[in-house]
Amino acid sequence: MQLLDGKATAQAIKDELKQAVDNRKSKGSKTPHLAAVLVGNDGGSLTYVNAKVKACEQIGFHSSLIRYDDSVSEKELLAKVIELNNDEEIDGFIVQLPLPDHIDELKITMAIDPIKDVDGFHPQNLGKMMLNLPSFLPATPAGILELMKRNGIETSGKDCVVIGRSNIVGMPISIMLAKKNDPGNCTVTLIHSRTKNIKEKVLKADIIIAAIGQPGFVTADMVKDGAVVIDVGTTRVEDASKKNGWALKGDVDFENVAPKCSFITPVPGGVGPMTIASLMINTLQSMELRNK
Ligand code: GUN
Repeated sequence: MQLLDGKATAQAIKDELKQAVDNRKSKGSKTPHLAAVLVGNDGGSLTYVNAKVKACEQIGFHSSLIRYDDSVSEKELLAKVIELNNDEEIDGFIVQLPLPDHIDELKITMAIDPIKDVDGFHPQNLGKMMLNLPSFLPATPAGILELMKRNGIETSGKDCVVIGRSNIVGMPISIMLAKKNDPGNCTVTLIHSRTKNIKEKVLKADIIIAAIGQPGFVTADMVKDGAVVIDVGTTRVEDASKKNGWALKGDVDFENVAPKCSFITPVPGGVGPMTIASLMINTLQSMELRNK
C-alpha cells in the first residue's frame, strides 16, 4: 500500500507556482489577487478559507478575505459578488460553500463572472469543461486528477466508481474521468442514494472516489485487492482525545481499507491540499487571461 500524499504533492505545485509568479513579477507582471468570501462561522469552512489565504501568502499572491455574519441577506451578498466582478485588482474569487439556507447558492454562483470563477462552479465553466474547451476546472476534481497523474496512477481503461453526485465533486469528476483525456478514459459508475447493490458495484472498481460525506462509508469488504482509493470526505466528528474536541473523518474506513489498496489518500493530508493547489493554479491562469 502506498499513501497518496496530497500535502507533499500540493507543496510541489505551490513551489512551481511561486517560481512562475516570481518570474512573471520580475518581468513587470501583475501579482495575482484571489478574494474569498466567507459567510458565517462554520469551523470547516473557516479552516478551508484560512488555508486558501495562507497558500496565497506562500506563493506570493495577494489575497482578500471578506467575511459576513450568517444573517447577511442574499441581496447584500449579490452586491459584493458584482463589486468583485468589477474590481480590476481582483483576478479571481470564490464564495465558500455551503451558504445559509436563506441564500440561493445557485443564484450566487451564477452571478460570478465566469472569467473570475476560479472555483470552476459557474455553468459556463462546467459546460466548457464538458466540451473540452478552455475553462476553469472545478478545484477538487482537478486536484484529484493531478494527484493521480503526479503519482503515476494509470487510469486508462480502468473501472472507476464515484460515490456521491454533488455539483462540486461527484458529478464533475465522473465526467472528467470518463473523457478521452489523461487522466481519464475510465469506465465510470456514479453511485448515489438510489443505487442498488452498492457493495457489489464498488467491489468491481479499480479506482474508488468516495465523496458522499458519510464517515467510514467505504468498508474493507467493499474494496477489491489493489484498488486505488481517493477519499474526499472531511466530516468533523467528536473526538475527546483531541485538544479541540473533534477529528476530521473521511468517507473511507482507512484503518481497515488501507492494507487492501495499491494507493490510498489520507484524511487530512490527501485531497484537501490538492483542492487548494488547484485553486492557486486557476488564480494564476485567471490573472494571465485577464491581462492578455
Ligand atoms: N465547499 C467545499 N469545497 C469547496 C470549494 O472547493 N469551493 C467553495 N467555494 N466551497 C467549497
